[in-house]
Amino acid sequence: MSRSAHPAGPRHADVLPEGHYTAPAADLNVLDPKVWSRTVDRDERGVVTVGGIGVDALAEEFGTPAYFLDETDFRARCRAWAEAFGKDADVFYAGKAFLSRAVVRWLKEEGLNLDVCSGGELATALSAGMPAERIAFHGNNKSEEEIRTAVEAGVGRIVLDSFQEIVRVAHTAQSLGKRQRVQIRVTVGVEAHTHEFIATAHEDQKFGIALAGGQAAEAVRRALKLDGLELIGIHSHIGSQIFDMAGFEVSARRVVQLLAEVRDEHGVELPEIDLGGGLGIAYTSEDDPREPHEIAKALGEIVTRECGAAGLTTPRISVEPGRAIVGPTAFTLYRVGTVKPLEGLRTYVSVDGGMSDNIRTALYDAEYSVSLVSRTSDAAPMLSRVVGKHCESGDIVVRDAFLPADVAPGDLIAVPATGAYCRSMASNYNHALRPPVVAVREGEARVIVRRETEEDLLRLDVG
Ligand SMILES: Cc1ncc(COP(=O)(O)O)c(C=O)c1O
Repeated sequence: MSRSAHPAGPRHADVLPEGHYTAPAADLNVLDPKVWSRTVDRDERGVVTVGGIGVDALAEEFGTPAYFLDETDFRARCRAWAEAFGKDADVFYAGKAFLSRAVVRWLKEEGLNLDVCSGGELATALSAGMPAERIAFHGNNKSEEEIRTAVEAGVGRIVLDSFQEIVRVAHTAQSLGKRQRVQIRVTVGVEAHTHEFIATAHEDQKFGIALAGGQAAEAVRRALKLDGLELIGIHSHIGSQIFDMAGFEVSARRVVQLLAEVRDEHGVELPEIDLGGGLGIAYTSEDDPREPHEIAKALGEIVTRECGAAGLTTPRISVEPGRAIVGPTAFTLYRVGTVKPLEGLRTYVSVDGGMSDNIRTALYDAEYSVSLVSRTSDAAPMLSRVVGKHCESGDIVVRDAFLPADVAPGDLIAVPATGAYCRSMASNYNHALRPPVVAVREGEARVIVRRETEEDLLRLDVG
């Protein structure tokens, strides 16, 4: 979002409370391929299509609001990540971004592994046939039951997040007569978001075991002593929506330093490191994400250099992108219900969903873009705020964006790049029915997660 002079002139510029806004130079009818999934286009009628199907037909068949997931794009992104990291590294898709059984099958077919962080995600993965050895199990407070299920299933790794958990997993594995492969999640004193990272001495957060004060070294000491555990490596995750590799550089250096300390103290070279996820995507035209091959090259070089300097054999690297795979592959389709111009401020465009299908704007002040998709328009750009239908004034989907001034009730508008952390964080606030996820591929659309019904809500309410 750029802020300078509003197109409507001084009348608006005088009173806009949060800065001034420049109408985009680009034609509002043009869809920026950076923020839309790869098979999105406009047909000869001006209607936006995905996988060759018009949004008018999709709205007719599946209703609104709804998430439309471009399966072709999702699979292509999986392949790009797998190819970029190659045979000597592992890519784990972070299921928290969005998980369903169809997604698990696509991941399996495209050669990716899966990171889950709850019993529910693990059950989804196993029920869709993901081989257990390709699953990593995360979480800062896994229940005894979750640990037992994961060990019994034979997950490829459990990422240990606390001293208590080291003992719990070891005990469970031993009681089942197993030796569980584990990594220890460390906090490296780096926090990274978008173009900035902050290196701190101590970590003030719930995840991981701090490198600072020798806690992580102590965790390694304890894990190495327990028969139920096979310690295979160290894990670090530093933030989200990151474009700059500088934070990863500091994180890798600190993790490698720990590997060197472990070698010196125990005579053991741990064979794996995981650098987590957090890689950024384009939510608006101003975001410039890196391609998977650039990320793979940069991370490979950092780790190889740091290990070389420490005299260590380079460990096997793994990463856990969630947003960077699924985020750009979906858009949310809404129907406009009301249009309310506020003189001198902006126009509120209300849609039939809101914070229950996209909490990120309210929660993180996330930025999104939006387009009129049921037709083209030559009307002037109008500073708009896309809001939902919930009883909450913070119920904003797109804070500030330009829509054509003739946008009207009945129009379809769509918010791109909603594949990650929208359906997975959706709620029933105001007893909203969570929207369906519809996968679209080569002219075919099918529901992969169905729309909730009032019967679904009432079934849980046992009276
Ligand atoms: C341990 C871990 N791995 C991976 C991810 C995925 O992050 P992203 O979707 O930003 O790539 C997260 C996100 O919170 C995480 O905590």
